Amino acid sequence: MSAPEIRTIGVVGLGAMGAGIAQLGIEAGYAVVGREVSDELGEKARERIAHFLQRKVDKEQMMADARASALERLTLTTGLADLAECDLVIEAIVEELAAKLEIFAALEGIVRPDAILATNTSALSVTEIAAATSLPKRVVGMHFFNPAPLMPLVEVVRAELSSDEAVEAAYAVGEKMGKRPIRCHDTPGFVVNRVLIPLLNDCIRVLDEARVSPEDLDTAMTAGAGWPMGPCTLVDLVGIDVHVHASEALYEKLREPRMAPPPRIVAMRNAGLLGRKSGRGFYSYDG
Ligand code: 3HC
Repeated sequence: MSAPEIRTIGVVGLGAMGAGIAQLGIEAGYAVVGREVSDELGEKARERIAHFLQRKVDKEQMMADARASALERLTLTTGLADLAECDLVIEAIVEELAAKLEIFAALEGIVRPDAILATNTSALSVTEIAAATSLPKRVVGMHFFNPAPLMPLVEVVRAELSSDEAVEAAYAVGEKMGKRPIRCHDTPGFVVNRVLIPLLNDCIRVLDEARVSPEDLDTAMTAGAGWPMGPCTLVDLVGIDVHVHASEALYEKLREPRMAPPPRIVAMRNAGLLGRKSGRGFYSYDG
């Protein structure tokens, strides 16, 4: 398989990550077809992207006409069939294997055989997702970091059967989006989460062990270890549910006790305290 020239990118799922990826796509000059399950969710993502691009214009990081033409490159749909012309589709839906398998199986019947399919999964196996398709060589991981428009890294993940062409095409897209991509293999947590998830779990455990407040723990790690944001702020940003899910997935595969989500954060997830997106996590957020 030779990889197609990437002109049009599909993004399936326009939550915080998908909207960020779509924003990167249109800013890099790609046509982007964003798919959400309802018009309302699609419009919410468009508004989010328009807002952040406007902030760039306000801060003279972007020209107003560049913002307008970037937004013109974004098409929204609720139908997967509208992704037929995409050269690359990046899936950024919920972290549920069954849901992802369903999307990849459906996409197979829609996109051209040479189109590349990527998943933004943070903790599931790209190889398992690829196995749901008849052409696993065109499936790779493209793992962006939250907030996607700001964090420079993209992990380009090679699954067992990914072709060199698919890996290199995804890498080139990451570069064109202005990112600093790295190549890695499909192991639990890839590179960053393999290290970051147990570290964040240690941070959450220390809250109780050292009887320190979230504010003081955040101060400790920003002022004492040079982190750009404290661990409680970061977990609230990532989403308590996303963090618990990633911890559980890593623990299931690697069985290292530090990978297991601490009871305190599982209880928060169960109570619906999901961080910024629900208005309350370690901190409360207005609006
Ligand atoms: N999308 C797009 N643009 C955004 C944005 C978003 N979500 N959030 C902020 N911006 C824009 C805004 O326009 C903002 O400017 P404004 O406030 O004037 O409107 C501009 O970016 C700059 O924002 P900040 O002033 O907040 O930027 P900072 O200099 O404070 O840096 C940061 C923010 C880059 C997020 C920094 O705090 C940081 O590096 N934090 C660590 C984040 C991190 O570790 N992420 C990885 C999480 S792990 C993960 O994602 C893996 C997953 O699998 C779980």
